[in-house]
Amino acid sequence: MRKIGMGIMWRAWILLFAGVLCLCTGCSKSRMPEKKNSIRIGVSLYRGDDTFINNIRAELEKKAKEYEQESGIKVILDIQEAKGNQNTQNNQVERFISLGCDVLCINPVDRMAASAIIDKAMTAGIPVVFFNRQPVEEDMNRWDQLYYVGADAKESAVLQGSILVNLYRETPGALDFDGDGVVSYVLLEGETSHQDSLIRTEWSIQTLKDGGVPIEKIAGAIANWERSQASAIMEQWLDKYGDEMELVICNNDDMALGAIDALERVGGPKLNLVGIDATNPGLEAVQSGKMLGTVSSDKEKYAWAILQIAAAKARHQQINAEITLTDGKYYWCAQEIILKN
Ligand code: BGC
Repeated sequence: MRKIGMGIMWRAWILLFAGVLCLCTGCSKSRMPEKKNSIRIGVSLYRGDDTFINNIRAELEKKAKEYEQESGIKVILDIQEAKGNQNTQNNQVERFISLGCDVLCINPVDRMAASAIIDKAMTAGIPVVFFNRQPVEEDMNRWDQLYYVGADAKESAVLQGSILVNLYRETPGALDFDGDGVVSYVLLEGETSHQDSLIRTEWSIQTLKDGGVPIEKIAGAIANWERSQASAIMEQWLDKYGDEMELVICNNDDMALGAIDALERVGGPKLNLVGIDATNPGLEAVQSGKMLGTVSSDKEKYAWAILQIAAAKARHQQINAEITLTDGKYYWCAQEIILKN
């Protein structure tokens, strides 16, 4: 009897010791949700001088403040710019991980090279919210802790094309200035590697065709989303095709603004210009009548979705039920046409 009693005592001690050890070493971590009073979010932007990305950044900062007020949880947003260099961005990701970031929000420099970032994040067990520059599906499917927030490129383009189709249907002469039955256009495209450039170009033109607008392309060029590059290209076009051009289709507002800069510099002819983004300077150009119209992705919702997903992941919580995720990982931001009031 005495012997059995001692055995039970020893086993009880061993179990108690193992329990205490487990609590101390953190094996409890995965079972019990952590009570955090602050979260650290590492954000890397492909470039710091991109107008659209800067608009998103400003909204993200606002949303982080609002989240702090609503939840009482301090949000540390560590925002870095990768200056168009993938190696720099990879180093930033390593630094974020070593600083103990709970989640990463990445606007990849090279969307085809997201796998290096995913490798690092997976090894460290840190979820990633990509935005604006969409990693390929194969990469996105590597882990269930990867998310993407963006504006659907085809939708942006169809809306952009609709601005022109609607105008042509109402008043053909508002697009076909010389009345020759054809609208002659030039096209300014974003970076070749960006999913938005190809798809926007294809679907803007397709929408015009489907809408019955007779079009003829005079020239097209890649201006990499940049106002200054677009301005230089447009100046050459004005010199070459100044009398023929009627319409300038731009993959984003900044390039439309660059084309307007060139028109103003050389005192060019009256032209219709359309953009995409509804950045602050883009909206001003629409309101002042310099740009015919643009397409707005709801930037507030865009940043809100990034922040909500990131914060939920950082706190090991469910993602806000108001966020509808396609395939459990893609958030598509709503878009609308913007015309002069
Ligand atoms: C925007 C561009 C921006 C680019 C950056 C696009 O979706 O329309 O204005 O320069 O993203 O990645």
